[in-house]
Amino acid sequence: MAMAAVPPPDQPIALTVNGSTYPRTVGTTATLLQVLRNDLGLNGPKYGCGLGQCGACTVHVDGVAARACVIPAAKVQGRDITTLEGLGDRLRPHLVQSAFIQAQAAQCGYCLNGMIMTTAALLAHNPHPSPQAVRDALSGNLCRCGTHVEILAAVQQAVAFLANPSSDPAPR
Ligand code: FES
Ligand code: FES
Repeated sequence: MAMAAVPPPDQPIALTVNGSTYPRTVGTTATLLQVLRNDLGLNGPKYGCGLGQCGACTVHVDGVAARACVIPAAKVQGRDITTLEGLGDRLRPHLVQSAFIQAQAAQCGYCLNGMIMTTAALLAHNPHPSPQAVRDALSGNLCRCGTHVEILAAVQQAVAFLANPSSDPAPR
């Protein structure tokens, strides 16, 4: 008779997310996405493919867009992790969030976490991206509803808000 597999033991970790440090005990195979959603209650990052291929789970790690579904949580201890919740909120949205609202660039909205987080990382490093640079940055983010045209318009709106902050209607 085959022996039942023994699950690996849990391990203590501490993650720095949206400016706060959270000690947690998690499974040794836990991904960053699992810890964010299941242990920290941060549901901005979404579970899509779970394979690093759709972008729904995108967060920032030290300011760089990264796929939380394929990052072992223990590997990003000590790194600066930002989720959609850390970017802005309903009352004070980040300018990229504000641009996506203005452009009404959503159908079901499931992809928007990844679209917004990827755009925010792009604009933080390149405030004047060419249309091709935007397409390249978002090329790995899938929208199952096919709203890519509206999403590209939202990114251009965000570029315009960045160039002229007073044109952004969101409170600052
Ligand atoms: S859920 Fe992470 S890339 Fe698809
Ligand atoms: S709006 Fe539905 S997946 Fe993009």
